[in-house]
Amino acid sequence: MKNREHWGSRLGFILAASGSAVGLGNIWKYPHMAGENGGAAFTVIYLICILLVGLPIVIAEFVIGRKTQLSPVGAFKTLAPNTNWKYVGVLGVCAAFVILSFYGVVGGWTLRYALLSLVGGFTKISGNPELAGEQFSLFISNPINPVFWQIVFMALTIFVIVRGVKGGIEKWAKIMMPAILLILVILMIRGLTLPNGLKALEFLFQPKFSDLNASSVVLALGHAFFTLSLGMGTMITYGSYLKSDQNLLSSALWIILLDTIIAIMAGIAIFATVFALGANPDSGPGLIFVALPTMFPQIAGGTLWGSLFFFLLFMAALTSAISILEVITAFFIDELNWSREKATVVFGSIVTIVGIFCSMSMGGFDDFNTLFNISFFDFLDYLSSKYMLPIGGMLTALFVLLKWGVGDFVQELKIGMEDKRIDPLWFKVLFIISALVVGFIITNEIIEIITGSSIIG
Ligand code: PFF
Repeated sequence: MKNREHWGSRLGFILAASGSAVGLGNIWKYPHMAGENGGAAFTVIYLICILLVGLPIVIAEFVIGRKTQLSPVGAFKTLAPNTNWKYVGVLGVCAAFVILSFYGVVGGWTLRYALLSLVGGFTKISGNPELAGEQFSLFISNPINPVFWQIVFMALTIFVIVRGVKGGIEKWAKIMMPAILLILVILMIRGLTLPNGLKALEFLFQPKFSDLNASSVVLALGHAFFTLSLGMGTMITYGSYLKSDQNLLSSALWIILLDTIIAIMAGIAIFATVFALGANPDSGPGLIFVALPTMFPQIAGGTLWGSLFFFLLFMAALTSAISILEVITAFFIDELNWSREKATVVFGSIVTIVGIFCSMSMGGFDDFNTLFNISFFDFLDYLSSKYMLPIGGMLTALFVLLKWGVGDFVQELKIGMEDKRIDPLWFKVLFIISALVVGFIITNEIIEIITGSSIIG
């Protein structure tokens, strides 16, 4: 067996794993979802989902990875030889393909917007959301321009991964994560000191539960998986590069804390700007690429703030894309003995090509969309966030409950912990809750697809 690569330090691991968690989900998706679903009420439900369902599954993935020192397929094969559990790992590798195809497209947009802001490109659309919307649609539906930026983004992802776990993923997480935090703190202070900026705090923290409906609960749960990179073996893969001296419980808590704080800080920075300019908080997915660019030029130093914001978004997307491609790379290294270079370049390129279709589906070549009824881009997003990740997460919880055994799992978790008082019952209850909640929600979705009406939502 080849020598496995390992993280250089505990901090490096925590930054790499939180780099995976913090991404477009935190800065692009969470703020607009909160904006459309009652602000604080959505935040409360989201936090409950993170703690009740996200936390136990993050820990489970880390423990499975560290124990087996293998990426998902090999890990399930080792813990449950000659069974079908390995297909949970296979599902994860497929989910990585699906997610990275559209993630790389949006990653390219962030890079293009950072540079556009830097050269003063937002001044023309200042205070004019219609024009901004038109320009955004023109850009994303262009057959060449967004594809170019997507290729640059994917090339950077490949560049980091080829350099390995310590020399690539960890090194760049150590540079980009502190930069992300610093830029967010600056942007948050800038937002809160704008007139009316403090309204953002009220919007995000004073729940009005009347604004909430059942479908926002479903949304919050799916988002908990997406934002924590769960259900496709990313955290199993990152956990497999750990030595046995790590306290996995505290590492998982750190990662969840960082992920949540960053989402909320992004929400504050964005909504403070929205309220300061009297704009609408519920402008949906276009909040970041349409509404915000019209606002930056209206505040002092807007060119700088705009560029910083999109550069932050680009770095957050890059550290996540790295973790997604690493799931595919690690599979080919572990299972088929490929070299890291070959696996990364071959599959990075294949994902980029699928991504080009995805980008084309935004208007450049929309004949393709008749296949799916929705754009290929939306189809991939929908398939992964609504089904693949929650199902993968549910199966991971069921694996520990039914196959591996909570007792053995807790025994493994205790390695590296000083205080070893953990009652397995706690984990049993949490895994049962996760599996039941996700199971119910997926059944609800399927019933809705078949019958057209759902039990809730
Ligand atoms: N957690 C990332 C985000 O919030 O943008 C997205 C993601 C990364 C999902 C890695 C899944 C994954 F395996």
